[in-house]
Amino acid sequence: MAFPESFIEELIDRNDIADVVSSYVSLSRKGGNLFGLCPFHNEKTPSFSVSPEKQIYHCFGCGVGGGVINFIMNIENLSYPDAVRFLASRVGLTVPEDSADDELPRLRRRMLELNKEAARWFYSNLSGDRGGKAVRYLEKRRILPRTAKNFGLGAAPDEWDGLINAMREKGFERDELVRAGLAVRGKGGRVYDKFRDRLMFPVIDVRGDVLGFSGRALEDGAEPKYLNSPETLVFSKRRVLYGINLAKNTKRDNFILVEGNVDVVSLHQAGLDSAVASMGTSLTTEQTRLISRYAKKIVLCYDNDPAGIKATDRALDILKNSEFTVRVLRLPNAIVDGKPVKQDADDFIKKYGGEEFDKLINGSGGSTEYRLMTLQTEYDLAEDEQRVAFLKRAGQLLAALSSPVEREIYAARAAEAAGISAEAMEREVERAVKNRRRNEKKEYEKQAAKPSGAVQPRDRALRYKDVKSALAEEGLIRQIMLDPAMAEYCDLAESDFSSPALWRIFSELVRRCESRQSVSPGAVSTALEAADAELLASLSEKPEEAGGRQAIEQYINVIKTQRLLESTDLAEIAKKMRETKSNGG
Ligand code: UTP
Ligand code: MN
Repeated sequence: MAFPESFIEELIDRNDIADVVSSYVSLSRKGGNLFGLCPFHNEKTPSFSVSPEKQIYHCFGCGVGGGVINFIMNIENLSYPDAVRFLASRVGLTVPEDSADDELPRLRRRMLELNKEAARWFYSNLSGDRGGKAVRYLEKRRILPRTAKNFGLGAAPDEWDGLINAMREKGFERDELVRAGLAVRGKGGRVYDKFRDRLMFPVIDVRGDVLGFSGRALEDGAEPKYLNSPETLVFSKRRVLYGINLAKNTKRDNFILVEGNVDVVSLHQAGLDSAVASMGTSLTTEQTRLISRYAKKIVLCYDNDPAGIKATDRALDILKNSEFTVRVLRLPNAIVDGKPVKQDADDFIKKYGGEEFDKLINGSGGSTEYRLMTLQTEYDLAEDEQRVAFLKRAGQLLAALSSPVEREIYAARAAEAAGISAEAMEREVERAVKNRRRNEKKEYEKQAAKPSGAVQPRDRALRYKDVKSALAEEGLIRQIMLDPAMAEYCDLAESDFSSPALWRIFSELVRRCESRQSVSPGAVSTALEAADAELLASLSEKPEEAGGRQAIEQYINVIKTQRLLESTDLAEIAKKMRETKSNGG
């Protein structure tokens, strides 16, 4: 990109870096430099500096830095030429776009024009003879006409030059179609349509420009399943997110990241209109920066298969040092013929609807966040002694997380909150993890040494099939008897419970709490069968202290995890991951 040098000099002259940065970051003077909180990473003490003298910025925390153009590229997620245009319009400079030594902007505008016309043509096919097959496919995937229209979906017919002819009529050359990735030049020099017999998904950016396309095969087994535009002057996979043109208008506070185009379409159709997909690549920093303009929370909802798990890990890595609140939503497998089968967001939505999906999002994934926050409020972190106490409790809390990645993420957050080094926090968590393992082992050995009946109800007909879950179910029941106000936090269904008897007791208790009746064992027993009443009596004898919401959440967490483990064949996934690894993947 060659803007005349004199123009760039004037542009930089007129856009004082301190002025430009101040409209994003509040700066205060310290010596010759200005300091503020870095907009590119999450921090509580300012390490982002701007030097008006040198006209540069630099962050001592995350290492970013550069001049004013570079700053705008980063913060607005713009390419170099777009950043130049941005700064030019900020100070009312005219960009020498069409100068002889600079064709690119004109070519880009022309390509966007062509893409828009192509998208219109694909869409118009849906209501003609050429689109019958695609329309039937949409019906099969339960995508409504209204939704298809919102997304500008279309049909590429099973023809070699349908699009080429339509676009030539609009005044575009074959070469232009080739450059835009819409047509391909064959060996003999013949030019033909790239997208044939496909459902077309235009990829549209936040300005409404059509940057490229993704086309899905209409027949199962056709390869490739998805065909995407190649990298062009206007289409760069790293920089786009499918669905961003609609998702940017969402009222939701979280962005939902999924793998597939159809997942995005389905989620929007079900009312979850903040869904976007990175198109077959792992999440990039350019994409997260784009999202950060619209939301501060991200829910990762990749497929529950080895590839999806890998993609999730990579995305967590990218998001580790960002200001986003990240949740990972792992969809439970479906059980088909007794076997676990992977479900993606689209499958889940079609089966259970958007509301259930939203419930999953609001479920246990965010409880760490919540618990850490409540813990923080219990301590005065300005006091050394209290800070140490907080450190210890936070360590214990985080040690309970099974994912090392999550432990790391939250440890960093806790450290920042307490104003201590991330290393110190991590050491504390490590210590707590070791302690926990030791205690678990002891507890396990203790349980194992007992006659197995000791944790089982006396009545053989009531035997627990999942002791871990049943103990948590019992715990919940005791908590509610101790504090009926807790009933409202127990949003559980019969299918969550492993023990039918405990479910009967639990639901009777909750019913009583709701109608403000007594929850003493004696009173509750009157509504229960004899065996259930006996069970209630025995479990209310076990000691338990009221643990408030935290205890409730912990029990619910155990129960939900046990159900998830049942429906997710972890061994299978682990095996597959090993296989992909040994295949050199
Ligand atoms: P999936 O194979 O998970 O597809 O690819 P999906 O979205 O569930 O597809 P449906 O539901 O069968 O239609 C996820 C994403 O990976 C990219 C596409 O962006 C796709 O949406 N992909 C997949 C490709 O780019 N090429 C392919 O051949 C397959
Ligand atoms: Mn799918």
